[in-house]
Amino acid sequence: MKAGLYIAEKQVTVGQIDIPDLQPGEALVKVAYAGICGTDMMIYSGKHPRAKAPLAMGHEFSGVIERINGESSFIVGSRVVIEPTLSCGKCEACLAGETHVCKTLKLLGIDKHGGFAEYVAVPLDRLHQIPDGLSDAHAALAEPVAVAVHTVRRSNLKAGDSVMVLGAGPIGLLVGMVAKQAGASQVMISDLSPYRLQKAEQLGLIAFNAKEVNITEEVMKRTAGNGAEVVFEVAGSQATAKQMIETVKTQGQIVVVSVFKQAPAIDLAAMHFREISLTTTRCYSKGDFSKAIQLMHNGEIDVSSLISHELPLEQLAEGFHFMENPDVSIKVLFHP
Ligand SMILES: NC(=O)c1ccc[n+]([C@@H]2O[C@H](COP(=O)([O-])OP(=O)(O)OC[C@H]3O[C@@H](n4cnc5c(N)ncnc54)[C@H](O)[C@@H]3O)[C@@H](O)[C@H]2O)c1
Ligand SMILES: [Zn+2]
Ligand SMILES: [Zn+2]
Repeated sequence: MKAGLYIAEKQVTVGQIDIPDLQPGEALVKVAYAGICGTDMMIYSGKHPRAKAPLAMGHEFSGVIERINGESSFIVGSRVVIEPTLSCGKCEACLAGETHVCKTLKLLGIDKHGGFAEYVAVPLDRLHQIPDGLSDAHAALAEPVAVAVHTVRRSNLKAGDSVMVLGAGPIGLLVGMVAKQAGASQVMISDLSPYRLQKAEQLGLIAFNAKEVNITEEVMKRTAGNGAEVVFEVAGSQATAKQMIETVKTQGQIVVVSVFKQAPAIDLAAMHFREISLTTTRCYSKGDFSKAIQLMHNGEIDVSSLISHELPLEQLAEGFHFMENPDVSIKVLFHP
């Protein structure tokens, strides 16, 4: 079958690999759409600690069930979106039902071949039905929407709160959208890319260009000098690791979503004086994933403006080039 493969640092190619053998308890999914995520960019840059070449990347994907090996409520032909986390089922976190923080958590598309291919073997319990009326392309974004749902659920956000989101990449924009849907009175967001900031404005968020204005001053102006109740850090830079403390209210909460490539310096003393809480967040639970699908299905979260490109898998390398430039892309989808 055709597969979009990571070969080496900054090298991807469309090649042939075997159609996966179906193990008991798995379904063979014919991929409809698969998105490039920041993690795929990390693999592409040769910096992912676990991904081993050659690898069919892609952990954000939807498709149709082609074959089923085992008992399942799904049937051949069902449209599905895949929750790509693979947990061990035995560690303390798994036994407590918190499988997304499994000690040895693995993901389809990182640790095993994923959605940049014609077919993927998926454990039956990782399948979610796509409801009628939700397109395969939109459903492929269930994974990043689930990250945002989980992130907002991990926060103390209450209706009427002011929110600051540092970073308007796909995850930052979705966190902003979910926070607004959850009742935030205002959602401010910063980035360096005018293209992404324009998208943010179209989505009803208050956008600041961190190259042009002082972010902390802007947040203070809009919060009567107090700061935001909840600050989401979604840029992963030293500048935003500083701003997250400056822009949060006394006794407010910072939620770090980013996976920092370099450990930032964090002013813990400044946090202590104002009793600021710091929370981290990883992936999503099955419930968060279902909620993400539901929010897209009932129109509360509309991801259409986040899809900047839909390309055939043959244009794999172009897709990665688009994603390297935040001024032209947000979410690139391939259809194998
Ligand atoms: N917690 C999780 O489970 C989880 C899941 C997915 C992604 N992530 C992480 O979330 C982060 C965001 O993901 P993404 O896909 O949106 O990445 P992205 O790289 O597309 O977005 C980051 C954005 O931050 C902006 N930025 C950089 N410096 C900035 C600054 N000083 N001020 C304001 N904005 C700045 C960039 O222009 C970019 O638009 C990444 O670190 C990613 O690894 C975490
Ligand atoms: Zn992802
Ligand atoms: Zn486990």
